[in-house]
Amino acid sequence: MQNHSSPDIVLISDSPSRSKKLSGILDPWFQIGTVPLEEIGSLDPPAKSIFVISAKLENAATLRSIRQLLTKHDRPSIFVFATFNSAAMAKAKDARATECFVWPFNAVDLVGAVRKALSLRVEESWKLLDELQVNALESCATTMRTCFSQCRNGQDLPLTAIRDTTEKIAAAAGDTPLETWLGSIEHYHDYTFTHCMFVCFTIVAFAQAIGIKNGDLTHLTLGALLHDIGKSRVPIAILDKPAKLAADEWQIMQQHPEFSRQILAAEQQLDKDSIEMAVHHHEKLDGTGYPDGLKGTEISDVVRLTAIADVYSALVDKRSYKPGFPRQKALEIMATMGDALDQGFVKTFAEFIMSTNQPVRMAG
Ligand SMILES: [Fe+2]
Ligand SMILES: [Fe+2]
Repeated sequence: MQNHSSPDIVLISDSPSRSKKLSGILDPWFQIGTVPLEEIGSLDPPAKSIFVISAKLENAATLRSIRQLLTKHDRPSIFVFATFNSAAMAKAKDARATECFVWPFNAVDLVGAVRKALSLRVEESWKLLDELQVNALESCATTMRTCFSQCRNGQDLPLTAIRDTTEKIAAAAGDTPLETWLGSIEHYHDYTFTHCMFVCFTIVAFAQAIGIKNGDLTHLTLGALLHDIGKSRVPIAILDKPAKLAADEWQIMQQHPEFSRQILAAEQQLDKDSIEMAVHHHEKLDGTGYPDGLKGTEISDVVRLTAIADVYSALVDKRSYKPGFPRQKALEIMATMGDALDQGFVKTFAEFIMSTNQPVRMAG
């Protein structure tokens, strides 16, 4: 396999030029391994990867080898055809194609289909966990999707579903080490959901380790899940941009705590801690944060914890335009951030993180 040794996508094609064209579309978002059609007999794809296939299925030998591949390695497979051909598309469906595209198509649609397929693959892997963990993860993924789409459409937050999810996380939390939580969302390909889940699971595990429980733990879980809900009002082109944000885009992104305040102000039943976590997790103890420029004791302990988990997630996270730092390096950087973070909490947090064995490669 050429390009990447542990790809998200195994790109199979009988045409180097089409393979190059598809790589050009997908490369900013995903890690790709390309395989010429004649080599698929010996292919051993990584467990969480999916297939993108562009080949002439009218050719009987080609169709046979692709069928054999998909029988041996059952996983989401997206087919891309050079021209519309209903017979070839029927053959692809028969070979269990997840989705079919015909040139010319909208690149955003293909990226969306790949993301969906990768997330599906990750969700399939949850079946190997125990029942409480599966319930918590499935509930979390569904609730985050609903929260963001409802807020994006100006609808109310699905509070009953959110509370149900926090209860399921709490039910699984006692027997779930941080590495299991984070390993289960590794390769998940919706960056914002993955980040919210990463922050939530990190806070839950850390809070448990320092003895926080019952109602306080529930508030922390709920607040962590919703901490970036304001991002639902940031345009997707900015939110998911596969490159560093320009100054004007960054300005819009920095409005997300203010958007969170507006969204959560309408929710009478939410506790004060959860709202503060969402509105103030970008405040800094030295007063240089946003949106309110709070200082020192104006920033509560739950907000300080959220800020730490949030910064840690951003540092270890791998995006298409930046590598993720190894956890020790991320913690070292946090220790040099002075009064931007509560350094007492950072020290305890660093001891906790180094006592776990978590993966660090997150969504691209
Ligand atoms: Fe944020
Ligand atoms: Fe965040």
